[in-house]
Amino acid sequence: MNISVVGTGYVGLVTAACFAEFGVQVVAVDKDVAKVALLQQGNVPFFEPGLEEMTRRNMREGRLVFSTDLKAAVEKSLVILIAVGTPSGDGGVADLSFVREVIVGIARCMNGYKVVVTKSTVPMGTGAMIRKLIEQSQPRSVPFSVASNPEFLREGAAIEDFMRPNRVVIGADDPQAIAILRDLYNPLYLIETPFVITNVVSAEMIKYASNAFLATKISFINEIAALCEAVGADVHEVSRGMGLDNRIGTGGSSVYKEFLAIERDLRPLALRISLGLNCEDPMTAENNVIDVEAWTADIVKHDRSLGSNLVEHFCDYKLPISTLSQLPQFSLRTNQPRNAPKSH
Ligand SMILES: NC(=O)c1ccc[n+]([C@@H]2O[C@H](COP(=O)([O-])OP(=O)(O)OC[C@H]3O[C@@H](n4cnc5c(N)ncnc54)[C@H](O)[C@@H]3O)[C@@H](O)[C@H]2O)c1
Repeated sequence: MNISVVGTGYVGLVTAACFAEFGVQVVAVDKDVAKVALLQQGNVPFFEPGLEEMTRRNMREGRLVFSTDLKAAVEKSLVILIAVGTPSGDGGVADLSFVREVIVGIARCMNGYKVVVTKSTVPMGTGAMIRKLIEQSQPRSVPFSVASNPEFLREGAAIEDFMRPNRVVIGADDPQAIAILRDLYNPLYLIETPFVITNVVSAEMIKYASNAFLATKISFINEIAALCEAVGADVHEVSRGMGLDNRIGTGGSSVYKEFLAIERDLRPLALRISLGLNCEDPMTAENNVIDVEAWTADIVKHDRSLGSNLVEHFCDYKLPISTLSQLPQFSLRTNQPRNAPKSH
């Protein structure tokens, strides 16, 4: 199969090299002339373990080429993967201007049926916008499919994450596109990778929801870490024990009862689970400010010795010093790094 990957940043380059490694013919396109010149010499502009060797090997064996010529790449490709940046725009909304620019470029030179796939992280509804933009931009009507194939790789482990992902998500609204993308990912089928085949907007939602869930988990484990410190538990063991449960959205009748129980246990320790409300930056949990007085009262009632943990907890969350100074029963200690693992 012939494919193009548009955008040779982190995601695009890893995607291009890994598909070439699968045996696919790949043209990797970028509008950055200097970057393409560098890549054509086999130089990868950032460090990712194994990527430069893989890139060079596939270039040598004729499966991977770099180009600035979008038209030529589109004309010879059945699948075009978009991996351009989608930076935060005004008010945190994703800036889709690079995506739009590429879509218009692709639409203008479609010479036959193509599957246009977003690998960039895009908000829900982008697939529908892309479909309309292609229809409006094509000089003559040429059939195409729009698909979403979000990327979950982690920098530093990108090749491993691409070659052995915990799942591949393919969102498309027609069976032809799904069949083509399944075929493209065939080597991962052979190693029994879980595939989630869904519609375009659900695939877009999976990426956003997964990121939000990850942020919630970070926030949650930070709260649990504080509780672990207070009761002498090992947060690494606790998080491992929790992380081995892969259920989501399902639970027995005891889940609510147990939630109430943990809430009851946490309140006296003044370490309320914020349940991801502060997901943007878990270390600046504004929500925790609200309950300072109630927490303080709870501590005094239950166990004064837990007070120093509470103060450290507040310091870690960068709560205003003025808030802390209103707690006469506790002396202010210096900020201490938290032990919580980063993500799970
Ligand atoms: N970096 C990650 O770890 C990661 C992980 C998952 C998803 N993502 C998502 O993947 C997307 C790409 O991320 P990245 O980190 O690879 O971005 P990046 O900024 O490193 O690379 C984007 C590339 O696109 C090129 N580009 C922009 N407009 C172009 C155009 N019109 N034609 C051709 N090339 C064009 C740029 O020159 C650049 O080389 C983003 O939506 C990002 O949110 C990133």
